[in-house]
Formats: sequence, C-alpha cells, structure tokens
Amino acid sequence: MLIKFPARSEAKESDVTPESVYLSRRGFMKAGAAVGLGASALPAVLAAQEYPDVPSVDVPAWLEPRLVDARWKAVSTNEPITPFKDATSYNNFYEFGTNKGDPARNASGLVVEPWTVMIDGEVAKPGRYDLTKLLADDRLEERIYRLRCVEAWSMVIPWLGIPLSGLIRQVEPTSKAKYVRMETVVQEKAMPGVRSSFSLVDWPYVEGLRMDEAMHPLTLLAVGMYGRSLPNQNGAPIRLVVPWKYGFKSIKSIVKISFVPEQPRTSWESLAPSEYGFYANVNPNVDHPRWSQARERRLPSGLFSPNLMDTRLFNGYEDEVAGLYSGLDLRANY
Ligand code: MTE
Repeated sequence: MLIKFPARSEAKESDVTPESVYLSRRGFMKAGAAVGLGASALPAVLAAQEYPDVPSVDVPAWLEPRLVDARWKAVSTNEPITPFKDATSYNNFYEFGTNKGDPARNASGLVVEPWTVMIDGEVAKPGRYDLTKLLADDRLEERIYRLRCVEAWSMVIPWLGIPLSGLIRQVEPTSKAKYVRMETVVQEKAMPGVRSSFSLVDWPYVEGLRMDEAMHPLTLLAVGMYGRSLPNQNGAPIRLVVPWKYGFKSIKSIVKISFVPEQPRTSWESLAPSEYGFYANVNPNVDHPRWSQARERRLPSGLFSPNLMDTRLFNGYEDEVAGLYSGLDLRANY
C-alpha cells in the first residue's frame, strides 16, 4: 500500500520516513561529518545500512553526490522489500537472452559509460544529452514500488530516480507532443539476444506512454536501486519505472526519447497485439488470453511457499492513477 505521496514542493524527509529511521539517519550523517567522512564515503555506507544484503559497488562519479543528496524513502510501502539477490538474478531483458538468469549472466559486457540520450521530435530543446546533464538539478528520490510483470510474478523494489516529468519540462515539448516514445540501446557485441537469429523482437526495444501518463508524478526515470547504481541486468544506466503498468512498459537502458503526435507502436504490441496492449495497466479483471491476471506470485517464491496474493487494479496505485483513465474501456484498451 502506498503510504504517502507528498507534493515535491512540500516534501520533507521527515514527512515520508518513519521518525525513528529519519532521526537515526540524521544522527548518522552528522556523526559521519564529525569524523571527517568525505562525501564519497557516505552513499556506500548509507546503502549498506539500509540494504545489508547488497554487495558494495563503485558508484559512478556523477552519481555519488546525487546519492548523498537523495531524498530517501520519498515514497514507501509497508510490504517487505524483495531481496536484492532475487531482483538482480530473476530478470526480463531479452537483449541478453530469454531465460530469467540470462541478463545477470550476460549483461556485464554492456558499456554504460559514457551514456547519452537522444531527445527528438516535438520539443523546443532537442539534442543528444549526456546522462550526467540530463538529470539537471533534480534531486534523486527513493521510491519503493511494487513491480508486477504481465507473467504474473511481482517484486517490491527500492528505486532511485527522478520523476520523468522533470526531464520533460526541461526539454519543453510542443503542443503537438501527445505521446512519448522510448528506445533501448542496441550493443550487438554485448547482447546475445540481439545477435540471435531466433529472436522475434525487432530491435531496438520500444515502449511508449501517453503524455499525461509520462507526466504523472509516479512515473520515474531510475538510475539506481537498493541505494546504489542500477546493475546492468536491471537496465543501467537509466530506465523507466511505471508502477501501475505491467513491467514490460518499464523500458531499460534508454538511449532515445521522442515526443510524437501519434501513439507509438511498441515492441510487445507489434509482436502479439492480441496479448499485449499499449496501455498494459495492471488489471486483475482482464485476463491475458493464455492465463489469469487475478493473482500474482511475489518473489521470492518456491514450490512449497509460492507466496501467492491477489493482484490489485493498477497494481494498488488506483487512488493515484485511476483518473487518467476515466471514460476509457479498460477491457478494450488492455
Ligand atoms: N526493457 C528492455 N529493453 N528489454 C526487455 O526485455 N523487459 C521488460 C522490462 N523492460 C525488457 C525491458 C519486462 S517484461 C519486465 S517484467 C521488466 O523489464 C523487468 O524488469 P527487472 O528485470 O528489472 O525486474
């Protein structure tokens, strides 16, 4: 359950984090400053404190100051967070293979630095933006969201990112921009799934949102998870997270964002239009043609403890997003 979603302008860390945690973190940071921990020492220590099962990692230089300044637990939930191990070893990233373990096994060769994102289409400020500049001055926020895959498994993941709306405002779309279309990087050498002659996907992987969905405050551009940078298999260095939609909308390793007048044709829709729609809103009342969407398997799950639970409309974010779809037939627009 989403506990609180304060407007950016009025959000204070103390508003959204349990007081005990907030106070101990403040104390910790003060203590860190007192013993002369440099800014660079803080993020890793913070991450270790919050997420003890996360192996330490070198955070890219551009991300470090942002981690220090991040607004931790800006959005939270009372559901247990999925262990880092499961969130990073059970993945869908078809560019690296179709088995759940393939991305973790194969993605280490993805080159994520330097990284640029091409912005084009109906915008006043098109161009090729360096990732470090693209995030502008927006403060990173930690958002703990449920992720519900169309395959009926789910996780709870602490992302770090900025609302997509911040970037959109920065590049100033024109009134002709009705949709946002995004593309994933293609690095053939590093991506066995792209090289494979059996692949059904016409690369690059493409996803899209209606402009009001893209501007919604829950829509996040993530550059980290579990207090650190994104692992390659989870979409490094920058990915989308749209928590009320099936996971396939949350496109990974983004290199292009286009502002377009027409609804873009997305990868899964092109592949099987009767099974995967453009909207892909999580909906327990509209089954996939081949399986029910009424329940989900929350990871970690096993044969003897499948950890099944009811799926909620809009993945439990109904209060926040239902208004986007008033008057829309959710069965026809799946
Ligand atoms: N993005 C790209 N480029 N390629 C993919 O295969 N899979 C999608 C989405 N983004 C995918 C992608 C699907 S089906 C899901 S469920 C989520 O990524 C999974 O994200 P995760 O592996 O971080 O849990």
